Amino acid sequence: MDVQINVDPKLSKLDHLFVLVAEGDTPRQWRKVIDESGFAGRADETITILHKEPKKLTLVGLGKPEKLSIRGLRAALYSVAKTAKKQRDRAIGVVFPYTLPALSAEETVRVAADYLGQSDYKYDAYITANKDDKAPSITATLIPADGIDGKRAKQLESEIRALAGGIRTVRDLANAPSNLVTPTKIAERAQQVAKSAGVKCTVYEKRDIEKMKMGGLLAVNRGSAEEPRFIVLEYAPKKATKHVALVGKGITFDSGGISIKPAEKMEEMKFDMCGAAAVIGTIEAAAALELPVRITGCIPSTDNLPSGSAYKPGDIITMMSGKTVEIVNTDAEGRMILGDALHYASELKPDHLLDYATLTGACVVALASEATGLFSNNDELARKLIECGERVGERLWRLPEWDEYKDLIRSDWADMKNSGGRWGGASTAAVFLKEFVNCPSWAHLDIAGTAYAEHETAREARGANGAGVRVTIAFLESLSRS
Ligand code: BES
Ligand code: MN
Ligand code: ZN
Repeated sequence: MDVQINVDPKLSKLDHLFVLVAEGDTPRQWRKVIDESGFAGRADETITILHKEPKKLTLVGLGKPEKLSIRGLRAALYSVAKTAKKQRDRAIGVVFPYTLPALSAEETVRVAADYLGQSDYKYDAYITANKDDKAPSITATLIPADGIDGKRAKQLESEIRALAGGIRTVRDLANAPSNLVTPTKIAERAQQVAKSAGVKCTVYEKRDIEKMKMGGLLAVNRGSAEEPRFIVLEYAPKKATKHVALVGKGITFDSGGISIKPAEKMEEMKFDMCGAAAVIGTIEAAAALELPVRITGCIPSTDNLPSGSAYKPGDIITMMSGKTVEIVNTDAEGRMILGDALHYASELKPDHLLDYATLTGACVVALASEATGLFSNNDELARKLIECGERVGERLWRLPEWDEYKDLIRSDWADMKNSGGRWGGASTAAVFLKEFVNCPSWAHLDIAGTAYAEHETAREARGANGAGVRVTIAFLESLSRS
């Protein structure tokens, strides 16, 4: 939904006003309705009462004030959107009279407006039933605590719109099924985004990829009837002093290949291109925000399927870097395509190199959907990313990429194997990637558990959510300040 920020809007113009209240708190203006309704403010608690201006007023509980968090706020905003949609509201107001711990008033407004804007998202492009009965689109006015002037509010609105555009691109692209989003289609989408954002986009086709000797990408692609693509997006503003390369895993469908996955939940593997989508969405948002940082996005894309021509366990593959890999599991395909992309990106000598990938089930076993697994060869970069994530509601948790894990991917026949087996699966994947990185400031974000929700939750819709975009934008903003 479109979000405006206004400390003092015309309440009579709204259909429905939502007031977010912490447990036990009675903000002066709402004291009467809170007392009369017996509302306590517990998380999940809502009560709708008839009011004058506007007619409907809903109190939404935020839980204990000392536990206010971005997560709690997201849940409250998600329930606001659900109620507004059910009631066919067109213009809503959302009062959030708090400042989140560790954030400034302005950062709080930005986070609240950001998540409010995403709260009504649903991927329904292919639901044909009840098309005419669809809820109308909603315009929301966020009503923050005082302390934000009108001019700044307008700036924040346009910043949020820029971010929302990028996040929406990620969600739409990643939620779309793999019969519609093939590597060719991702490339076309990247080109469209680039065109409207004023960014350069180069699409390498199969014969180019062969010339570039991207052996990992070509090996994974061998089982597929769809051609691979290698996509490079370049945003190069004049005033840039730093260069950041972003690499995203673009497996449009991961069946596992010859080492085929079990049928259960295999359909979720359409999300195996969430890293690629995050890179496209981040660059779209960064360009719209006109961030003064040079950004190069690199996306290797293919699906991973079994066939008579598919790559097989036991095969030895020579990667773009010249290093050789013994395939022991064709389902460890992400690192094969990323190895080439990370080598390509390293050659550009960026100041920072970040990659995004739904890389391992092991990372999901360790962290579930609560945090992205973070691996880095640079403590300062890791610290910064964790802090940026904390400020925008994306939790990153650092896991090790120690050299010792290399023992687990040692091969008798080649420079390394593509899988180290079950133990430490997220870390062995990270050290595999590191073999292709030549940049002293590299971070790998394993978003396998965070990029999409398997089921609807209290704070988000089922499907892709844009993981990686907010933390990266916050990081790029921090670079442009330093
Ligand atoms: N795309 C998967 C990882 C994944 C699993 C993402 C679950 C999201 C949810 C990846 O390509 C994969 O199959 N990884 C294997 C690696 C193993 C064969 C070494 C895994 O995690 O099981
Ligand atoms: Mn796989
Ligand atoms: Zn995969």
